[in-house]
Amino acid sequence: MIILKSPEEIERLRVSNRIVANALAQVVKAVKPGVSTDELDRLAEDLIREAGATPAFKGYRGYPRTLCTSINKEVVHGIPSPDRKLQEGDILSVDVGARYEGYYGDTAVTIGVGQISPEAQRVMEVAQEALHRGIACARASNRLFDISNAIQRCAEGAGFSVVRQFVGHGIGAALHEEPQIPNFGEPGQGPRLSAGMVLAIEPMVNRGGSDVRLLSDNWTVVTADGSLSAHFEHTILVAEDGAEILSRPDGASEGAHD
Ligand code: MF3
Ligand code: CO
Ligand code: CO
Repeated sequence: MIILKSPEEIERLRVSNRIVANALAQVVKAVKPGVSTDELDRLAEDLIREAGATPAFKGYRGYPRTLCTSINKEVVHGIPSPDRKLQEGDILSVDVGARYEGYYGDTAVTIGVGQISPEAQRVMEVAQEALHRGIACARASNRLFDISNAIQRCAEGAGFSVVRQFVGHGIGAALHEEPQIPNFGEPGQGPRLSAGMVLAIEPMVNRGGSDVRLLSDNWTVVTADGSLSAHFEHTILVAEDGAEILSRPDGASEGAHD
């Protein structure tokens, strides 16, 4: 069942998502060559706690940290570590979640470290564009897989592939609720969308093939062929006439494209 949120629940989801978006914006500013993913993780945890929320991923199924930090061929769920220092030319996905008064926020971006190659730049741009194409289909009366299809067409149209083993999701009083939101699918299929649904949409786009594998830490997901991967995520509210992005930082304009 897809839970429709009440106005009171939506208010809390606005707060939790603003908190993760603000934390992510600060983490992004701290990214540079030589910084470890552990330092970024500590910064995020401090910011989330200062805002009166708690990290959502820490302790989730035994996950140890506040952020997921996934570099280059890592797709998602990379674990921050003091041994992992960012290098010029890397691309880094940072995913952050928080819980505020019982409601969750979840958002991610991929950014370049210093100067990056045109190939790396392109896969990031396409993944971000795919997210926004998906969001543009999230309105009442559309079907869920209209979102999925828009993402798939954008990524594959650019010559890249979408990861199929991991999906977006409903979000609310749980981090992961129904429905699952694949990043591929047939338009006009899937459940009908209604105002009051809150969804975390999160395309993972690989430069090479769509296959992934799990590293021996049992968390880090990498591309099977070692190609670069980019990941972007927003939590959105479905409304009658379109979607509202909840995971925007303070001061971001409604039309801002990140
Ligand atoms: N942030 C992931 C998502 O977007 C979930 C991470 S769960 C963790 O759904 F345990 F790996 F942190
Ligand atoms: Co996430
Ligand atoms: Co998510």
